This record gives sequence, structure tokens and C-alpha cells, in this order.
Amino acid sequence: MTDAAAWQRAADPARRLGHAVEFHASIGSTSDRARELLAAGREGIAVVADLQTAGRGRRGRAWESPPGVNLMVSVAFRPSLDPAALGLLGLAAALAARSACVTAAGGRPLWLRWPNDLVAADGAKLAGVLVETALVEGRPADAVVGIGINANWRRADMPPELVERATSLCELTGTDVDRVALLSLLLGALDGELRALEDGRSPVPRAREADALAGRQVRVDTGSEVLGGRSLGIDEDGALLLETHGERRALHAGEVVAVREALPA
Ligand code: BTN
Repeated sequence: MTDAAAWQRAADPARRLGHAVEFHASIGSTSDRARELLAAGREGIAVVADLQTAGRGRRGRAWESPPGVNLMVSVAFRPSLDPAALGLLGLAAALAARSACVTAAGGRPLWLRWPNDLVAADGAKLAGVLVETALVEGRPADAVVGIGINANWRRADMPPELVERATSLCELTGTDVDRVALLSLLLGALDGELRALEDGRSPVPRAREADALAGRQVRVDTGSEVLGGRSLGIDEDGALLLETHGERRALHAGEVVAVREALPA
């Protein structure tokens, strides 16, 4: 376990996101706590927990993690973004997670699986991003970015339903990673991604370079149907472009449920 004082080393007062770190040994969801802090006028505090009792994943799923081994963090802020750019926040956060994890994994290549999963070369999931936003009068009012990174979770300890689909930094590197150093890298990258987005610099070109799906045969569950086809890559607005049944569709939400062929390791 890492104690509260140690986590403070990941804070940097010069940053908008992650200028302070609040640690919880156990909490419902770090994203709920980050939202509470924002409502109290405290933007950009990174809320970290060793255990979440009600951790959320995308699409109403639970986010599973045993206590004290992984990195679970949320940051809430009021973005200066047009509603169109808000859709790119998930990609930007996934790129931040990728940057931190590539460094922590000694430069090993990692990939983005639309919409914002971080995966290893074999497609196993290393990290997930949950972005929750609220619009007021059509403009983004607040945003909560929650990131879960499998850090020191050994495959041998993963539940059977995850072991085939998930990996962790310690599995990739063969050694435990320093979660505080990982958080520091992540917050630095996230802060930079938000600044870029607010300055009008899109994360899409960099997301395309890291795209795990472009050119591959995939199956995507949109929530209302499951579509099979070839991924044509990521559109300017963050949508997945899919060639399916002879037509080109732009998918703005969904989940990739199958991919043919692994990526170069
Ligand atoms: C996903 O891939 O489904 C998104 C997972 C997001 C999990 C993180 S862990 C920290 C933050 N708090 C939550 O309740 N969820 C996010």
C-alpha cells in the first residue's frame, strides 16, 4: 500500500489538473468525489483511491480493481471548450494515459482502442477512461475525467472473466511499477492534453497514430445493434468510421466487441 503522504509527491502546484492530490483508502467512486470538490469550487484536484466500492466503467459497467494495486484517479474541471470539442476529451485523456503508461512500461508500444481504451499489442486492456460531462445552455459546464490503469495487478490474481481480456503494467514489464510516479506522469500529460484541446489543437492526429483498429475487421456494439465491418479510422470529431455492408458509417458511441488480428508488439 502507498500512504497518503506518498501520493502528495504526484501533485504539482504549477498544474491546473493535479495541482493537489486527495487520497482515499476506500471510497465509492473517485469521480463522484471529484465532482463534489468541483461543486465546492475546487477545480483540478486529483482524487485517488486504493479501493472503490462503487467504481464505474463506461456503459453502466462496474470497474473492478482489488485494493492497493492499481491506479484509480478522477479530476473534475470546467473546460473552455465548444460542445464539439467536448467529444474529444475522452481521446485526449486516453492519449495522456498512453503517454504515462508507455513511459512506465519502458517504451513498450501501447495502442488506443476506440473510443478510449488503452490496450497492449495482444488487445488486452491496460486502462480505461470514463468522461462524464454536463452541458448548461448548450455549453460544457463541467467535466469529470476518471482513469483506471491496471498497474500491479497480476494476471494470476484477476477474475476469470477478465484474465483473457486484461493486462497490467507489471505483466508487461515483469516488475511492479511505482504508482505515485505513474500518477505524476499521468497528471502532467492530462494537464497538457487539456491545454492543447482548449487551444484548439486536436488530439485526433495523434490518436490516429496510436489507433489499434484502423484497417482491421471489427465488430462494434452501438447499443442498438452490432455492426461488423472494416475500421477506416477515427474521424475529425472522434467518431469511428466503419465500412459496413458497403456503406461508410460514423459511429459516435459504442463498444468494440471483437477485432481480427493482433498488433505489432
Ligand atoms: C472503462 O473502461 O469502462 C472506464 C473505466 C474508468 C474507471 C475509472 S477508475 C477511477 C474513476 N472512478 C470511477 O468510478 N471510474 C473511473
